[in-house]
Amino acid sequence: MSGMPEPSIDEVFEGCKQVLEKNKKDSFTIPAEGLYPHQWLWDSCFIAIGLAEYDLPRAKKELQSLLRGQWSNGMLPHMIFAKGDSHKRDRDIWQSWRSPYAPDKLSTSGFTQPPMLAEAIVRIGEKMKIRDRRSWYQDMYPALLAYHQWLYSERDPHKEGLILLIHPWESGLDNSPPWIDQLHLQEKPWWVKLVEKTNIDKVVMFFRRDTLHVPPGQRISNIDALLYFHIIQRLKRKNWDIDKILSRSHFSFQDLTFNCILVRANQHMIDIAKTIGHELPEDLKENFKKTEDSLETLWDGFYKQYYSRAFITHKLVKEGSIASLMPLYAGSISKERALELVKTLKSSKQFGTEYPVPSVPVSSSWYKEFGYWQGPTWINTNWLIADGLDRYGFKEEADNIRSKSIKAVTKHGPYEYFSAKSGEPAGAKNFSWSAALIINMIANQKSGSKK
Ligand code: GLC
Repeated sequence: MSGMPEPSIDEVFEGCKQVLEKNKKDSFTIPAEGLYPHQWLWDSCFIAIGLAEYDLPRAKKELQSLLRGQWSNGMLPHMIFAKGDSHKRDRDIWQSWRSPYAPDKLSTSGFTQPPMLAEAIVRIGEKMKIRDRRSWYQDMYPALLAYHQWLYSERDPHKEGLILLIHPWESGLDNSPPWIDQLHLQEKPWWVKLVEKTNIDKVVMFFRRDTLHVPPGQRISNIDALLYFHIIQRLKRKNWDIDKILSRSHFSFQDLTFNCILVRANQHMIDIAKTIGHELPEDLKENFKKTEDSLETLWDGFYKQYYSRAFITHKLVKEGSIASLMPLYAGSISKERALELVKTLKSSKQFGTEYPVPSVPVSSSWYKEFGYWQGPTWINTNWLIADGLDRYGFKEEADNIRSKSIKAVTKHGPYEYFSAKSGEPAGAKNFSWSAALIINMIANQKSGSKK
């Protein structure tokens, strides 16, 4: 859309709808053509939130389509692979069929992504009359319940109330500084060291799909990409069996973003169960409470911030990132703490940029204007933070984030991410969740009924 006169708000809305139309594949929506040809878990949840503004049947289908991939132990995988010969390589890398719990008829990844499903179910439900809402919730409830039960039974082995992640991709913020920091503390496998030493990492570029579509400077480094691939190989060799994975002190992390999204999802689940007259299992309700309480153990009084925690050393990983603002979305922290977070949000040394909210504070040594999850502004994290700010009564701050998000997309179209300083676009073009969440933001701005 750049280089042309700026479109009106209605044209932006229409343009975003067209992007979702273009990215539609049978029963679901891909994140972006070429770079992301499969169905992703949290992408589809964000996409459904946008679709709910104008096409409820398609929004429902988007989520129902995610359930195709659910494992029999309850896990919702972070990717469901597209069929066809051209995607065989992706399916073979993961080999989900090694797990007895994986579905028979399709291939998926072997781990999950942030639990946005409950939020998406509720956003769709809110658009319905009570009768339809009940039957929609009835349809989705068993899968949602199984998923949350799986999270606690497999990913909270010490019953701390916090879910551990076994790969950075599970966090959705792939190479955010806290994760990369921990990754670099791991002993590198010999073959990665060799690649690094001999400087042949450029060869890796041939095998990378992302750098075919987006300039390498806007993506993860080759060596880190190899380390991520190595973790997948290790997990796959354990047939995706969590007991075997954790028995070898596997790299694992109590991720702040993931657990904040879980707190909110749990609150939604309580509402969903109430609406359809179901009693949640007692142990699950206790876990819900424990997660809210345990979130407080991730607070650092000195830096006045929340952080993720390494599971094995049990130490907070004190690297600044957008995750620190996610407790606003969780909604369980005190108003005083929320105010502390709002101060960092507005500080020009941290997150207070022209096009907020940068994925890393601008004063951080990690900050790169176009670095993947290491500086740019993303529309989904903006949506989450603004939603949390609304609920704490910080309307002005929430509106500022939303109007700057709309401004960036009005100028350039729904790209994957944007410079937090200039609003310049980067990453994939026509990116579905940017389009969907801008649709939601515009619709709410119009109706004036911000949630
Ligand atoms: C990248 C993002 C992740 C997203 C996926 C598909 O891996 O980091 O959050 O789900 O792309 O869009």
